Amino acid sequence: MTAHYQSHGDVAVITLDNPPVNGLGLSTRQGIVAALEQANADAAIRAVVLTGAGKAFSGGADIREFGSPKALQDPNLLSVILALENFAKPIVAAIHSVCMGGGLELALGAHYRVAAPGCKVALPEVKLGLIPGAGGTQRLPRVLGVEAALNMIVSGEAVNSEMLAQVPGQKLFDKLAASAESLMDEALAFARSVADVRPLPLVRNLPAKHPQGDAYFQFARNMVKGMSKNFPAPAKCVDAVEAATKKKFADGMAFEREIFINLMWTSECRALRHLFVAERAASKIPDVPEDTPKRNIQSVAVIGAGTMGGGISMNFLNAGIPVKMLEMKQEALDRGIATIRKNYEAQVKKGKLKQDKYEQRMALLSTTLDYADLKDADLVIEAVFEEIGVKQKVFEALDAVMKPGAILASNTSTLDVNKIANFTKRPQDVVGLHFFSPANVMKLLEVVRGDATAKDVLATVMSVAKKIKKTAVVSGVCDGFIGNRMVEQYVRQGGFLLDEGCTPEQVDKAIEKFGFAMGPFRMGDLAGNDIGWAIRKRRAIEHPDMKYSKTADLLCEKGRYGQKTGAGWYDYVPGKRDAIPNAEVIQMIEEHRKALGITARKVSDEEIVQRLVFSLVNEAAHILEEGIANKASDIDVVYIFGYGFPVHRGGPLKYADEVGLFNVTQAMKRFAQNPLDDAAFWQPAPLLARLAAEGKTFN
Ligand code: NAI
Repeated sequence: MTAHYQSHGDVAVITLDNPPVNGLGLSTRQGIVAALEQANADAAIRAVVLTGAGKAFSGGADIREFGSPKALQDPNLLSVILALENFAKPIVAAIHSVCMGGGLELALGAHYRVAAPGCKVALPEVKLGLIPGAGGTQRLPRVLGVEAALNMIVSGEAVNSEMLAQVPGQKLFDKLAASAESLMDEALAFARSVADVRPLPLVRNLPAKHPQGDAYFQFARNMVKGMSKNFPAPAKCVDAVEAATKKKFADGMAFEREIFINLMWTSECRALRHLFVAERAASKIPDVPEDTPKRNIQSVAVIGAGTMGGGISMNFLNAGIPVKMLEMKQEALDRGIATIRKNYEAQVKKGKLKQDKYEQRMALLSTTLDYADLKDADLVIEAVFEEIGVKQKVFEALDAVMKPGAILASNTSTLDVNKIANFTKRPQDVVGLHFFSPANVMKLLEVVRGDATAKDVLATVMSVAKKIKKTAVVSGVCDGFIGNRMVEQYVRQGGFLLDEGCTPEQVDKAIEKFGFAMGPFRMGDLAGNDIGWAIRKRRAIEHPDMKYSKTADLLCEKGRYGQKTGAGWYDYVPGKRDAIPNAEVIQMIEEHRKALGITARKVSDEEIVQRLVFSLVNEAAHILEEGIANKASDIDVVYIFGYGFPVHRGGPLKYADEVGLFNVTQAMKRFAQNPLDDAAFWQPAPLLARLAAEGKTFN
């Protein structure tokens, strides 16, 4: 069992001990109940202190039990909390470090609570599409007041124990300990001081009231509605807290339970839980064990101070890691530094960064024009022009100067990482680190594993990614890696849709209504249509038979590269990002259609969404089957964190699972019959066909 019993004279101490965060799994719950029985049986014990070992009081439910029968097996959390409330001797929760979710609900079942300063307290269930399900919505308003409690429940954000102790009239903490070190002594003394109190105080017996209840809850509902349009849980948090103020405690508990169970079965909740697990799983690489030794990364060099080099450098400066940037000319370095300064100064102006922090970060940045100055860096990331000849020169130069064991990374988005590795005599030290633009903002990092990349290099860069707060996913080497390889199919479908009768606006609106941050044409305008143009020119040589709509080429021939030229698929007003439809572009599309002899047809929004999304799904299935991605959930993570796929749908493959793979393949077979589309592409990938036939899912 993962909870222990120990007596300290007349006080029993029950310690949750289920690393890393004392999740309330079955064995921990059983351990608490067994320890309570022991404390009850010992007449010498007058009170109990409940605490957590190591780095937490408790982080809540044990995520390893998610979806398994153990999660609900008796004693479930509700029964354990009831056992605390009904215990005949006082129970004092000694809270420290982390007290979240079920952990906080457990503490609210104790008769008293003593907290250490610096403890993070939260009910984060809303982040998984749920509401607290073990009394959190009923008990927290009773100890913290309705407004403070609802703010915590609806946001899921952690609040520091010192802050909570200052909430006027709060009864969450009976005492704030002087320090984390003195917590246990203070909790033991407190337990002794209340050992004879009867009846024992219960949170459930406190009132939950708001002086202007109806008006307040109306206001809260309006606020929540605006902020969470695709998610049902936040509004349900308001309902549940309101119930705490209006219903008897037991009825409120039943109401909370009913909402909790109903939310559990919503697709939004399934999507969020999927992503929670997927994001954590992404850092695990099947053949790279977790205990693989890592190389020490204390300093970083960045080659190229352009758009990407600057953003990449900022990530390391933010994490307190010194960066040296190298360029060909001093002017380029000056420009790069000026951009970094401008970005930081904007943050300072907005109050997001303190002036002294900004200065500390800039002090970590240095520059050079000489490769010899980089020789001691532990990691070097190249972000120069996307030309294989330029990459070759850079990697040969790095190979000549870098100390043995340094990791040599390329930020290339389209070039062959194996080829780049072979420009050096140490291909085992070479890896792709594909950041997304703006690199200081976007969370996704594709780690491109070359044929020769050493396991300890992979383990190291995955851990570096965590340090700079990126979500890293491993991709094998292929054209476009995971994300861009998929997006190419999606953009290609967008082109066919124009040929068949759609406008860019219709396509964008349909997929934005589905939940994408941006449709393919607005995305093209943002990224620059000339980038795709260059790729298509290369493709025309490599795969001359690849079918695609020529409208995008025609657009580029007009110089309409997108936002940077003020005109692309749409028009743009300087300083604004609003996409304004342009009559000439529509005419260009119509003329091209005429030239192809196509009569425009009305395409439904449903067809637009299916063709765009299922094109991602089919390409993803190929990527999985080829072993470019290690697992389906990695692909979902790439799309959510790098490409604006709607979070409430859980990623392209999770979405396909929800639709049902049989239905997905049926739709693909229909699309294959459209003579204006690419019939060969719509043959379901073998993996997809197999899963559909077996009634299975990707995830
Ligand atoms: P950029 O043109 O803004 O910056 C490139 C910089 O490299 C320039 O400042 C240039 O002076 C410098 N440079 C060129 N050759 C050099 C050399 N031999 N030695 C030292 N410095 C040299 O280009 P950007 O957009 O930053 O792209 C850089 C790399 O990042 C490319 O490989 C690109 O494919 C990749 N990438 C770009 C993304 C984007 O959205 N812009 C996204 C992901 C990857």
